[in-house]
Amino acid sequence: MLQTVLSERFSRLTDDQLDDRIRAAREALGRRLVILGHHYQRDEVIKFADVRGDSFKLAQWAASRKDAEYIVFCGVHFMAESADVLSADYQKVVLPDMSAGCSMADMAGLDQVEACWEDLKRLTSGKITPVTYMNSAASIKAFCGRHGGAVCTSSNASVVMGWALERADKILFLPDQHLGRNTGYRLGLGLDEMPVWDPYEELGGNAVDVLRNSRVILWKGHCSVHQRFLPQHVQQVRSRYPDIRVISHPECRFEVTQLSDEVGSTEHIIKCISESPAGTNWAVGTEIHLVNRLKNENPDRFIIPLDDCGCLCSTMFRIDPQHLLWSLESLLEGRVPNQITVPPDIAANARIALNRMLEISN
Ligand code: 13P
Ligand code: SF4
Repeated sequence: MLQTVLSERFSRLTDDQLDDRIRAAREALGRRLVILGHHYQRDEVIKFADVRGDSFKLAQWAASRKDAEYIVFCGVHFMAESADVLSADYQKVVLPDMSAGCSMADMAGLDQVEACWEDLKRLTSGKITPVTYMNSAASIKAFCGRHGGAVCTSSNASVVMGWALERADKILFLPDQHLGRNTGYRLGLGLDEMPVWDPYEELGGNAVDVLRNSRVILWKGHCSVHQRFLPQHVQQVRSRYPDIRVISHPECRFEVTQLSDEVGSTEHIIKCISESPAGTNWAVGTEIHLVNRLKNENPDRFIIPLDDCGCLCSTMFRIDPQHLLWSLESLLEGRVPNQITVPPDIAANARIALNRMLEISN
């Protein structure tokens, strides 16, 4: 579904008018509405979120709260899909702008994953468990559900991968090679046990022996925002600010996370910084809106982005106050705009993989 171009009556509104009308629509919808917001959302939007969180917290919320009729998801498409899969049938999930996708999720197509799976089954022996990062399409989550696998997020990847490694000889980890590598290494695997599968190469670009001796096969996907952080950025901030602490998201390259003092999900980054003593200096390797918010909310700590260009997730940025207002006012007029509905057969299998994650990590 494509995004409708908003009428000029939304783009002509001033910031104050937008705020007033969003507030009024929210109030009129009352308990029928819940607004969920991911930490990368801009301030003008996140301030209206009833619940803010990382992907895991937002999925937990969707699975446990059955009271709101409308869930307006200020985040990206795969998050809204997961909320639809985990919420009750009478709950309707709305993504304010349909162009809020995720380039990483688009890097693993179901046909490509099925082809990889067939090759792995044919060429290797033993059990393989597929694990997909939350940042993937519902069809990929369903694939994992069908094959005894699970979903993970950046806050529970170690637990989920540990669970899978105990049960299987190999993991096929989709679609973020960096999260897979960082987590596998943390669990004690060697880099040579984690080859990368390039879906555009014959056998993923690997020799058969390499696949046979592997423990984790890493899909060749990445986050274009986090991949921009480089080891040189860590070296630069450390030479400029000798007592700085570097904290990065596990979607960053292995070389960056290895040089960091702390690595974790957006929720972990917030907790670490807000609980650190006043006067602590931090360089943060994640999306710029979260870094700026941390800076504003912690004036007694020195906080800078790890890369001075400031990495922006342009798809998260698609959700703006104009689209939020349009969504809420449409709901008030009795229309459900941009409803995210995962087809029932895909949803059933995706739910298995998502619920498995929730069980493993609770
Ligand atoms: P978390 O909020 O789960 O850490 O995920 C970051 C992210 O990239 C979401 O797209
Ligand atoms: Fe996708 Fe990266 Fe944006 Fe997260 S930050 S939504 S992984 S492109």
